[in-house]
Amino acid sequence: MSDAILEVKDLTMQFGGSKGGFLSKPKAGFVAVDAVSFEVQRGETFGIVGESGSGKTTLGRCILRVLDPSAGSIRFQARTGAAVDLASAPIDQLRQVWRKVRMVFQDPQASLNPRLRVIDIVGQALQKSEGLRGKALAERVGQLLESVGLRPEFMHRYPNAFSGGQRQRLGIARALSTHPELVVADEAVSALDVSIQAQTLNLLQDLQEQFDLTFVFIAHDLAVVEHICDRVAVMYRGQFVEVATTDTLFRAPQHPYTRALLQAVPVADPRQRRRRGADRAEPVDVGAPARGCRFSPRCPHATELCRETRPPVRKVGGADVLCHYAGEI
Ligand SMILES: Nc1ncnc2c1ncn2[C@@H]1O[C@H](COP(=O)(O)OP(=O)(O)O)[C@@H](O)[C@H]1O
Ligand code: SF4
Ligand SMILES: [Mg+2]
Repeated sequence: MSDAILEVKDLTMQFGGSKGGFLSKPKAGFVAVDAVSFEVQRGETFGIVGESGSGKTTLGRCILRVLDPSAGSIRFQARTGAAVDLASAPIDQLRQVWRKVRMVFQDPQASLNPRLRVIDIVGQALQKSEGLRGKALAERVGQLLESVGLRPEFMHRYPNAFSGGQRQRLGIARALSTHPELVVADEAVSALDVSIQAQTLNLLQDLQEQFDLTFVFIAHDLAVVEHICDRVAVMYRGQFVEVATTDTLFRAPQHPYTRALLQAVPVADPRQRRRRGADRAEPVDVGAPARGCRFSPRCPHATELCRETRPPVRKVGGADVLCHYAGEI
């Protein structure tokens, strides 16, 4: 048995659609996550990268069970050895797991209640589940603030007194308050300036070591992923088209989509990076074909086989590649 903290099998999330009934025909919904399988090892940083609308956030929300997946399993194994399928766990079991699996959000501005002081934001879980109050609460919140590089006396301020980078640190402190084992960070640094991004990524790496954390790190920015991840999954329209170690992926990308992504990367120019950060605003093209390879309309190597038949996962040079011709093109 491996030391996987997370084992996701055939995870599928369909929006809309219905099974049909007496008077209604079954209606196909929009499949935002399509039979995705992967494992994350304890202590690892597992990246999920892909363009806007590829299903990254939906996948992250399914792992947290903020969304109820349509199918598949999500096995989380705690340090104690106890395992639970997050896809089907009842709510009382989920409440326990939600202390161990936390999320850091894309937009700290939106995820921090502007009417609460930092002590009540960062300390919320401590108040609720440990009943901490007064001095004991202040002490713990102060420690949490220090661990993310903020001054303890900031606990009496409101979120709007902080910069974007500081607010993201508050979000991280809040996530850490329950001693999590797994943190799902969804575009955690995407809204930040490049220099603040680097500081925040370094902080996350320090915290990972200090608190023995495992990260699922979601980003659309390849430079960010390359900096922090041990392994990377490339997501395209709900599927993982390539999974490999970061080194392998960036050195020898196999899937035509991964290659296209890497070619589009401006490496060092911060202005370019900021422009690419705007790609979230682009309209999402949902015209994936119903059959065959989802990338086939954009793939320069597509054949009749690609258009008709779903590609299998093939192992090539240490990567798992969802392509009929992996290793041959
Ligand atoms: N609640 C929802 N209802 C219907 N469609 C949704 C919902 N949430 C996301 N989607 C769709 O699922 C797709 C994937 O979205 P998302 O997971 O946010 O992608 P990403 O995070 O990679 O940008 C998009 O086409 C989006 O419009
Ligand atoms: S299966 Fe065919 S269309 Fe899909 S990525 Fe591979 S070569 Fe391109
Ligand atoms: Mg997203």
